[in-house]
Amino acid sequence: MRLTLEEAARRLRAGEIVAFPTETVYGLGADATNEDAVLKIFETKARPRFDPLIVHVPDVSTAQTLSLGPWEPRALALAEAFWPGPLTLVLPKGPLVPDLVTAGLETFAVRVPDHPTALELLRLTARPLAAPSANRFGRLSPTTAEAVESQLGPGLPLLDAGPCRVGVESTVVSLARSEAMLLRPGGLPREEIEAVVGHLQIPTKDSLQRESPGRSIRHYAPRTPLRWRGREDHPRSDLGLLQFGTSDEVGWGAVEDLSPDRDLRKAARRLYEALRRLDGLGLRGLRAEPVPDEGLGQAINDRLEKAMQP
Ligand code: TXA
Ligand code: MG
Repeated sequence: MRLTLEEAARRLRAGEIVAFPTETVYGLGADATNEDAVLKIFETKARPRFDPLIVHVPDVSTAQTLSLGPWEPRALALAEAFWPGPLTLVLPKGPLVPDLVTAGLETFAVRVPDHPTALELLRLTARPLAAPSANRFGRLSPTTAEAVESQLGPGLPLLDAGPCRVGVESTVVSLARSEAMLLRPGGLPREEIEAVVGHLQIPTKDSLQRESPGRSIRHYAPRTPLRWRGREDHPRSDLGLLQFGTSDEVGWGAVEDLSPDRDLRKAARRLYEALRRLDGLGLRGLRAEPVPDEGLGQAINDRLEKAMQP
């Protein structure tokens, strides 16, 4: 059900959920200060309660009202450099953020989205909005309004602003400890963040489970089984290939090229729609080529790997 901005803001203020666009992916939003409203997000997505949500705000000063105490220099520098934009900061949480949003953690995740519709919605609603990606739990994140509807149903209240520009979720950086930590590669390349705050630690599997519950499980997955491509992919007339840059191979049941000119930004933008299209063809399996592990390539490879986990 497509809404106007005014109607979307009215519903959010009344404690209802609304899907809305951001520069990364579509989010499923609710008033972050209203636990009953936030509960509806978990129910609609079938999302486990141990997986905390990102809070969206229109500016740094609103983010500061939600955190505990004054911001340290690294947080200020990152917000100054990259907000609005695809960067989520994990910081000590203040009393205004309900435990349901953070899954009981002492920290919370916050970002200022770089999308005119999202920013206008945040201003009209005048509440921080908790919003995970607007997909069913574990599935592909939606980068179009149609993708939201195909997962969550046509009845879901939705703001449509066309396809998302970045196409993969925000990069999540934790500043909760002395060492800044990269919890999730995403739409802002790691190299750009490190240029501002220096080296980012990468959590081990065990510490990731503790620092960012939900990150270590299967995610972003199509229904058709996905694997990296290999020499044993024969016969392949019933397999779909997700490739990066043209190759002149034949015999695949279907091929989606993330970017014929090997541009990682274009590849990130197309990733979820390409997987969604291949997933709709009823193939026996899908195979993916890894992309170069630099810039946005880190987020793309991360999402593909997570989609393959059993
Ligand atoms: O681009 C995005 O980030 C999109 C758009 C809608 O903003 N949102 C998104 O939300 O991807 P979601 O719920 O799919 O992913 C949130 C991520 C999860 O990996 C979660 O574990 C992590 O953020 N997270 C949230 N709060 C956290 C916290 N307090 N500490 C550590 N990780 C946290
Ligand atoms: Mg998600």
